[in-house]
Amino acid sequence: MKFFIDTANLDQIREAQDLGVLDGVTTNPSLMAKEGITGRNNILKHYVDICNIVDGDVSAEVIATDFDGMVKEGEQLAELHEQIVVKIPMIKEGIKAIKYFSDNGIRTNCTLVFSAGQALLAAKAGATYVSPFIGRLDDISTDGLNLIAEIRLIYDNYGFETQILAASVRHTMHVLECAKIGSDVMTGPLSSIEGLLKHPLTDIGLEKFLADYKKGN
Ligand code: G3P
Repeated sequence: MKFFIDTANLDQIREAQDLGVLDGVTTNPSLMAKEGITGRNNILKHYVDICNIVDGDVSAEVIATDFDGMVKEGEQLAELHEQIVVKIPMIKEGIKAIKYFSDNGIRTNCTLVFSAGQALLAAKAGATYVSPFIGRLDDISTDGLNLIAEIRLIYDNYGFETQILAASVRHTMHVLECAKIGSDVMTGPLSSIEGLLKHPLTDIGLEKFLADYKKGN
């Protein structure tokens, strides 16, 4: 299972990279705005900065919502760095753009996916990744993890190569449940990754080992 971090914060990206388990980064316009990155040139530079920190794929989202605009913007993003994956929204023009990019060797991440039908369409169009937003489904009393399971079943039925990228992950249990279901990737905040470390018996056990060592030395 690949671990992506869902942030545009360079310090957090560095921290996750230093842990040695990071496989990539996802961003979106809201995450960019949260870091105060505004203006086209600054945003493009920020994507390159992220690529220079991590080894894996970095999703960069288009702002255009028409086919020509998405193609123009996506091609510009893809040229920035070989690690860039063009993030395209799940809309009709977006599906056309994903198909175009797939035919032209540009990798894509289909974002804002909330149903199995949308995920099926993204795979048919040749998306590299599909991003179901599980946390936002949970927010409206709909089981986000169930959507991951449905997509896994459908993709396995037909051997679709599109990778399931569980997005809008909020906490460590989301990560674990996605791993059990067989999501290819998860993207979440640094806390969702670091939460996997924690167990009180580990802390108690280590404290005792060190205390016992001190007694004999
Ligand atoms: O990867 C999608 C993500 O950025 C959305 O997360 O927490 O805003 O629902 P959230």
